[in-house]
Amino acid sequence: MTSKKSRKKPSPKKPPREKTVVKRGSRPASAVRIIRTIDNMRALVREVRLRKRSIALVPTMGFLHEGHLSLIREARRRAKLVVVSIFVNPTQFLPGEDLDRYPRDLPGDRRKVAAAGGDVIFMPEAAEMYPEGFQTFVDVTHVTRDLCGAARPGHFRGVATVVTKLFNIVQPDVALFGEKDYQQLQCVRRLAQDLNLPVQIVGLPTVRETDGLAMSSRNVYLSPEERGQALAISRGLQKARRLFSAGERDSSELTAAVLDILRNQSGLEVEYVTVCHPETLERLPAIDREAVILVAARVGKTRLIDNARLKGTGRR
Ligand code: PAF
Repeated sequence: MTSKKSRKKPSPKKPPREKTVVKRGSRPASAVRIIRTIDNMRALVREVRLRKRSIALVPTMGFLHEGHLSLIREARRRAKLVVVSIFVNPTQFLPGEDLDRYPRDLPGDRRKVAAAGGDVIFMPEAAEMYPEGFQTFVDVTHVTRDLCGAARPGHFRGVATVVTKLFNIVQPDVALFGEKDYQQLQCVRRLAQDLNLPVQIVGLPTVRETDGLAMSSRNVYLSPEERGQALAISRGLQKARRLFSAGERDSSELTAAVLDILRNQSGLEVEYVTVCHPETLERLPAIDREAVILVAARVGKTRLIDNARLKGTGRR
């Protein structure tokens, strides 16, 4: 007798349901909207404000690296709309500097902004930011006087002016800057405070290559040999940190140790090594609580800057 038990046919395997959630990091570049005019940027800001959403701004000059991406990721955590401005600002370059050859890569930048979670790239034209007849500048005085301000007169006036304009256009609740450009960060903090701008300024630590070189869009100018020579800067700063941790508080001892490393490096020309107060950037002959040690040097034709915070539990 044959059993009438019907064998259950195996049901055809259902294809896995496609997930509609797009993982951050796999967002296509086209997920990032590009806005090229001030009017269109303002229109979006109005819309977002009507919905009572918060806005974060990451101001950049493009050719983004991991340092910028860490700012964008943090911006994502802090606000609903993340705007990354890409504007190679002519007023912060001195005659003879690299304005014309500053590296650019919009398709690459758009992909990176998408992967880091940014929503919008705002990239106005220089002619719209500085139309004919433009004559109003923002001048932050004390904190920009020394260091890079002395070596690049007018540079911080250009930075302060464009950052103020970007704040006015984008109206961010929070704006994020890297600590690699330490004097710039203090300049922006000062202007936001002095001009009562309703924006929180956030500084994030310098992101480094695995060998210690501080990330910068300008590193692309370095030949392989120069790149090796540039490592003396982070080595020098590490040495200062070690001495500070071991209890050294005399600024001239700390700068001498860094200078010793830099001056022994062929191909590198020191511009300054200075120990300063972390907010006012006034020079400190001795460190009472905390400080920042700042370095600028030329490697070939490329000017590099870097710094290290000196704080914490060092012996006294
Ligand atoms: O750090 C930069 O890239 C620029 O100085 C900034 C802050 C975007 C202003 O042009």
